Amino acid sequence: MKLPWRPPRDREFDVVGMGCAAMDVVAVVERLPQLDEKIHALAMDRQGGGPVGTALTVVARMGLRAAFAGQVGDDFAGRFIIEEFEREGVNLQGEVVHPDTQSQISLILVDRATGKRTAVSGRGELAEAVCDRLRHEMARRGKILHVDGYDMDAAICFADECKAAGGIVVYDAGSVKEGSVELLARTDVAVVSRVFAEKMFGHDDWEAACRALVEMGPSYAGVTRGEEGAVGLDGETFFEVPPFPVEPVVDTTGAGDVFHGALDVAILKGWDFKKCMTFGSAVAAMKCRHLGGRAGIPTFEEARAFLKERGFKF
Ligand SMILES: Nc1ncnc2c1ncn2[C@@H]1O[C@H](COP(=O)(O)OP(=O)(O)OP(=O)(O)O)[C@@H](O)[C@H]1O
Ligand SMILES: [Mg+2]
Repeated sequence: MKLPWRPPRDREFDVVGMGCAAMDVVAVVERLPQLDEKIHALAMDRQGGGPVGTALTVVARMGLRAAFAGQVGDDFAGRFIIEEFEREGVNLQGEVVHPDTQSQISLILVDRATGKRTAVSGRGELAEAVCDRLRHEMARRGKILHVDGYDMDAAICFADECKAAGGIVVYDAGSVKEGSVELLARTDVAVVSRVFAEKMFGHDDWEAACRALVEMGPSYAGVTRGEEGAVGLDGETFFEVPPFPVEPVVDTTGAGDVFHGALDVAILKGWDFKKCMTFGSAVAAMKCRHLGGRAGIPTFEEARAFLKERGFKF
């Protein structure tokens, strides 16, 4: 595929997400506690999270049609995750409430001084029984399939379905998992975290990492680098996307998830890859001004105004 991309018109959804939706409990702390120590939080909140869940929230908040086709458990966190999606207008036709599986809850401590997050997460994997034709059918109903490597077997099936129907696959690869290579082979746009790149390739040469990623399948590849911004490879051309500095950085939780949701929106706007990555970086920076992964997600107009103030015409 080639960016700018002209998506198929006859689709019910702009983005179908298959992967992780979670409940985040975030607490701002003066410092990380020591073993067996109790400390007080300076602020706390509970928000929806998970790479796919938060990316879909960006898509919906920016006025596009998003659908979640992943699983949640039949527990209080699952009910919270569903309520958050409903509030944001994310379609849930493809979602599976799985009685024997736990919903993901992430416990996140946010360092007050830097906004950096430390997280503990856990969840059950999607049982194979629910990877059936009906759910895979969701992958044909979106222009973009957004995956994060959770429920890997289902993600691979979904990617095959999506591509067969003429859609494109965007992979937010946060950590290397069994099946990551197979999923990359089915991916059109892969923007990975630096953790993923270092683990997969064993070095921090980002240009080499992008070139290696493209060898593995994707037409476009990039690496996000936290407060240092991001890099990408557009055909032969390697480029850097500077970070958008924001003051103060309240919380970086979900910055990558938001970056990827904005990337989907940008691809659907029909922009070139560098412009898409720049938009992702700006929207992610805006998010960092607020506590939690979702509170700071802007509308499309707010993002455009933020970019305009900084001399970018979008
Ligand atoms: N402190 C920051 N200030 C401005 N922008 C930031 C900051 N931290 C992150 N970003 C933006 O968000 C993008 C994604 O962040 P990062 O690389 O940390 O994602 P990640 O490693 O996937 O983590 P996660 O998915 O858990 O948020 C960066 O490329 C950058 O554009
Ligand atoms: Mg990430």
